[in-house]
Amino acid sequence: MAVFTATTSAPVNIACIKYWGKRDTKLILPTNSSLSVTLDQDHLRSTTTSRADPAFEKDRLWLNGVEEDIKSGGRMATCISEMKRMRKELVEDKDASAAPLSKYFVHIASYNNFPTAAGLASSASGFAALTASLAALYALPSPPTTLSLIARQGSGSACRSLLGGFVAWNAGELPSGLDSNAVQVAPETHWPDIHALICVVNDAKKGTSSTSGMQRTVETSALLQHRIKHCVPQRMADISAAILARDFDRFAEITMADSNQFHAVCLDTAPPIFYMNDVSRAIIAVIEEYNRVALLPENGGKRKAAYTYDAGPNAVIYAPAANMKEIISMIVRYFPQQDPFKDPFSLFGGAGPSSGALV
Ligand code: ADP
Ligand code: DP6
Ligand code: CO
Repeated sequence: MAVFTATTSAPVNIACIKYWGKRDTKLILPTNSSLSVTLDQDHLRSTTTSRADPAFEKDRLWLNGVEEDIKSGGRMATCISEMKRMRKELVEDKDASAAPLSKYFVHIASYNNFPTAAGLASSASGFAALTASLAALYALPSPPTTLSLIARQGSGSACRSLLGGFVAWNAGELPSGLDSNAVQVAPETHWPDIHALICVVNDAKKGTSSTSGMQRTVETSALLQHRIKHCVPQRMADISAAILARDFDRFAEITMADSNQFHAVCLDTAPPIFYMNDVSRAIIAVIEEYNRVALLPENGGKRKAAYTYDAGPNAVIYAPAANMKEIISMIVRYFPQQDPFKDPFSLFGGAGPSSGALV
């Protein structure tokens, strides 16, 4: 008897221009476009196996070995049913000999090799791996940008993890969401010199999920409206140009400004949301001082590192590969730790479009 199963991994992506706010909560259509770097598969990733079998009695999901409820009408259920619909339309309706997998229930098991729901984009790699795994199981001919429309309905940031390198998620205008997809701005090979260092400040599950936090921001923050209208569009254009020109100084300036504005918008939410903690802020101070010195004319006048924080306290530091050793020794000096890999504040690993530097 044939066994229908597929296993796929997807890496996390860390945004330089942050997605924060939905104009449609069911379809997950954002209030603004965003842009991120997809890290390499060797470090932070989700690995998902899906299996279709006529003997299964319902769709089931295990996350890190623990069974999770698939809520009817919820995001997971939407992604699964959208993928079954694509299987039927693109494969079974065209080829009468194709196995009727769209009619079978699926069992899905997913593992994250890094902290889940801690602000390190587990929902991004998680729903990207789910979508990619079902696309492989169902032998869909669809390109990543088409699949990004499905992953987006699981978690907004997930649409960007289906593509490598530098990726933009277009906010789009259509009520259907068909133009709200992820596209590659540049492949990882365009700028392999840029690396990412992940500093795990706290690996605990955050108090306010991204989903509920951004909804509260949309409902209460006036600053969000200013950001959407007057800041993000120019930043999207400017950072895309900086990436295409491999201009790290400009890339860093925009990335840090956008991270800080995103956290300001969280503070402007009622009640306010605090994702960063004292250690997060101390890392900002270290990188700002490092750049202040680098910006002096006698030192070249260009920034050497960029910090960015998602919805959590953990820092991601982007920098040209040549600066990483210096940055790591600086971080270890200011935040002493016995074993940079195991301590609570640990340098989890580095990754970039190119393979990552490690401590
Ligand atoms: P994060 O900052 O880690 O993305 P979020 O609050 O955005 O945190 O999302 C966390 C949620 O994403 C989890 O509670 C879970 O529902 C979902 N998730 C995380 N990893 C996976 C995975 N591998 N497969 C499916 N869903 C996942
Ligand atoms: C701060 O994609 O996790 O990481 O769409 O509700 O699942 P949902 O939210 P999610 O939000 C990510 C927010 C962010 C910024 C970003 O990744 O662009
Ligand atoms: Co998330």
